Amino acid sequence: MGTLRPLIDKLQVERTLTHDEFVRMFTERNPEDSEYMRALAQETAVANYGHDIYLRGLIEFTNYCRNDCLYCGIRRSNDKAERYRLTTEEILECCDIGYGFGLRTFVLQGGEDMTYKDDDFCELIRQIKKQHPDCAVTLSVGERSRETYEKYYEAGADRYLLRHETSSPEHYAMLHPAELTIENRKRCLRDLKDIGFQIGAGFMVGSPYQTYDYLAEDFEYLRELDPHMIGIGPFIHHKDTPFRDMPDGSYEETLYCLAILRLMFPRVLLPATTALGTINPLGREEGIRHGANVIMPSLSPKDVRQKYLLYDGKICTGEEAAECHACLEGRIARIGYRAVSSRGDHADWVRK
Ligand code: 5AD
Repeated sequence: MGTLRPLIDKLQVERTLTHDEFVRMFTERNPEDSEYMRALAQETAVANYGHDIYLRGLIEFTNYCRNDCLYCGIRRSNDKAERYRLTTEEILECCDIGYGFGLRTFVLQGGEDMTYKDDDFCELIRQIKKQHPDCAVTLSVGERSRETYEKYYEAGADRYLLRHETSSPEHYAMLHPAELTIENRKRCLRDLKDIGFQIGAGFMVGSPYQTYDYLAEDFEYLRELDPHMIGIGPFIHHKDTPFRDMPDGSYEETLYCLAILRLMFPRVLLPATTALGTINPLGREEGIRHGANVIMPSLSPKDVRQKYLLYDGKICTGEEAAECHACLEGRIARIGYRAVSSRGDHADWVRK
């Protein structure tokens, strides 16, 4: 037996640890305790959600971005990225196709593409909700003003994904250009929660210059923010970014973080992400075995998939939506879970 069992038990009961205890969870990480925590995390997910896995249809609708995040393949200054944006008709068609597979959440994700004006984007949200009133709309379009977020909510958007990336101002500045700040990122997340969205935060595991102190701060920040969803995945380098030579995040550490998060937040919506499936072919299945309960199959049209490359080697870029969907349903079923057709809102949320 390793040394961490008392901390893992404490985490399960108290749902948090002190800063130094979070750090110890990493410095003293070992196979036996990891397996002990994994089993607890899986049991916790099953106790709350049974063997149901929620699916979210991901529509990567633009790869234009005004930002220049050092880790990201669609950063503004990557002139090798072939830029595209989908039309309203194309986006609505993705939703129709996804609806046919049983998907009841559509995630509109894109770079911070300022050519979509608030009114047009709100009109798109309204059209999706009109065509599919039983579906949730999730947005993932970055930092905007509170007024803009309010308009999105009024138009009918239900959820918003905005990873905080790292909670430490010092580390944040190593990953982003000076015009982006953790203060504004946190302001956005506060505003979004306050307005009434179900919010998703999160970070990359093993991002360049990340330390266990920084990771501990991420867990502490998440405890305080108490989001409805948490997206994490390993950092994976992209050849046309300044971080091209940086090592990728660790697969085992990512799974370990998922288990910690499941113990901290028994009911949080926790995806097994595409990045996790990219660093290991069975990564998403293992993610579920570590407490994840959400998977996000891509609904993006086949001809743009190879262009939405945040990192090298991204999986599922050569498939049609139908193939992606069938593949994921099979993967979920093979490990004894079932892909469910429901919105999958957080239990504590009602629209205000
Ligand atoms: N590796 C892994 N994840 C990345 N993201 C962006 N670039 C990378 C990368 N190189 C993640 C960020 C962002 C999300 C949409 O994708 O955390 O918030």
